Order: sequence, then structure tokens, then C-alpha cells
Amino acid sequence: MQEPIIKVRDIAWIRLRSPDLEVAEKFLTDFGLQRSERTHETLYMRGTDIDRHIHITELGSPKVLSIAFHADSEADLRRLAERASGASDLESLNQPGGGKRVRLREHNGFEVEVVHGVADAAPLPVERFRYNTGPSRERFADLARVSTAPSHVKRIAHVVISTPEVKPTVAWIQRHLGFVTSDDVHDEDDKSEILASFNRADRGADFVDHHVMMVGRNARTGLNHVSFEVQDIDDLWSGHEYLLQADYRHCWGIGRHTLGSQIFDYWFDPWGRMHEHWTDSDLLNNEHSYSLVPRSQGLRSQWGPQAPQEFRDAASTWL
Ligand SMILES: [Fe+2]
Repeated sequence: MQEPIIKVRDIAWIRLRSPDLEVAEKFLTDFGLQRSERTHETLYMRGTDIDRHIHITELGSPKVLSIAFHADSEADLRRLAERASGASDLESLNQPGGGKRVRLREHNGFEVEVVHGVADAAPLPVERFRYNTGPSRERFADLARVSTAPSHVKRIAHVVISTPEVKPTVAWIQRHLGFVTSDDVHDEDDKSEILASFNRADRGADFVDHHVMMVGRNARTGLNHVSFEVQDIDDLWSGHEYLLQADYRHCWGIGRHTLGSQIFDYWFDPWGRMHEHWTDSDLLNNEHSYSLVPRSQGLRSQWGPQAPQEFRDAASTWL
């Protein structure tokens, strides 16, 4: 395998386009994000962690515009601009928080932004739920009461790309973004047919989420889903009840994945783009040994419902 040009630190944001920012903000607020800034043309939403925005919506016909990743340095952006074929020049980001970016086209033609120097924001206060489970006793003379309310999204966590061409797409993200494969899933009868590839950021000995980008085989190319971490399982369930009552379209959940092990819940936004809530991911570092597992093991829920066809088919328009 070729050496990566750079190794990105983490995912930064998703950039979508929607025809009504009011409707977009209502859904995203009900989903558990909070408004960071809104102009006539653009809506910036954040979580409770320090990122100024993790979800950007531009006004216009529905489309997935790009996904952004944080680089370690401006020198890394320059390396990409020089070495990646089709890369833009180094550009200033004309949006809140500033920063610099380089734009790339990945294997399927989707736009990837690699950014650096975006100013952080102060984290938002959030009340931590205390659990008396297992050996833990942390709630005393304090009654557990969970209201039905939007979840409190912490941060953006990963994206899943649908494509007929899994292997070249994975080769591209490894070469340009420095991802490493945590686990692959193969067709039940043919080990050489990769159906899904789970890739994480390479931070050496530091632990990171099991995957920051998954590439899944699909007849169509597009965004399968974008994923956000919430506070804990009660926060996830209360958000689930809230979104159900508000009549949004549910896709899949609540369950626990096998690869990555997150407790998950998937919802469609008003334009059919799938947004995931999760909590409790596996964390891996460079000691992890890769595994190749059959579909019947890798893509099963450990508990909860199995994936509906609608989830497997999802590929929101990108081009
Ligand atoms: Fe996911």
C-alpha cells in the first residue's frame, strides 16, 4: 500500500443543502443539535463539545455537498494541495470560526474538505446522568427521572458512503486521509467480495472510535448516513421517544451494532438523509488486529432489530 499523504485527526462536519432552513433547523434541533449561527443562506449547528459547528446546511435544492476532516497542521493542508491530484489550492474558510481548507474529490467524485485552524467554542453545559449499575454507585438520594426531550448531541462521529466500488474507495481514503481499516465484512460465500469496510483515524497509540468512515457496497453511490454521538443510553432513548412523538421518519433501532459496538438509532431528515444517534463505541488504537468477518457476523445487531432493506439501500444524492 502507498504511504498516506497525510493522516487526518478526526471528522469535522457534514455540509448539506436543503430548500428550507427553517424546516432544517427544526429537524436538527429536535434531533439534538443546537444552533451556532444562521444567515439567510447558511445554518450552522453544533453539539455540546467544543466544535463551533458539526453540521452545516446551505440553502438550495437537496444535496449532500461535502464531508470535512480536521488536519493536524496547515503544513498538512499544503502537502495535500501539492500532492493530491485534483486538489484545490489552500483556501481561507469564509465562515464562522475561520480556518483554512483544501478541497478534494474522492474516488466516487464526492467533495471532501480537509480543514485546519477553525476556532473552537466553549463547550455547552450538560447534565450527566448518574448510574447505579454494575459495580458503579454514583447516584445517592437523587431519583432517576428522564423526560421526553431531544437528545443532547456531543459531536459528529462518522459517515458511511455507499458505492459499487468499495476497494478503490477505501484505497483513496487511506492514501489521502491516512485511515486504517479496523474490520472488513465479506460476502457470505466469497471472501474476496468486500461488502463493508470500517476505517478509523490513525492516531498511533491513542484510542479513537472504531470507525470514522465506513464504505458499504451499494448499487448506487451516495451518503448512507452521518452519525452523531449523544450523552448516554438514556439520552438516546429520550431523543427516540421525542422524535417518534414529533412524527419524524424512523429507519432502524434501537440496537447494538457488532462492529464498533455502538448502541444506535437511525432517523431520516425531512429530505431523506439518514442521521444516526449512538452512544458507547468501541475505542481502538494501533494494537488492534484487523479482522475479516462474514456478513452474518459483522453486520448483525447484537441485540435489537436487524437492519431493514431501507437502511441497506440508503444512498442520498451527492453528485
Ligand atoms: Fe453508523
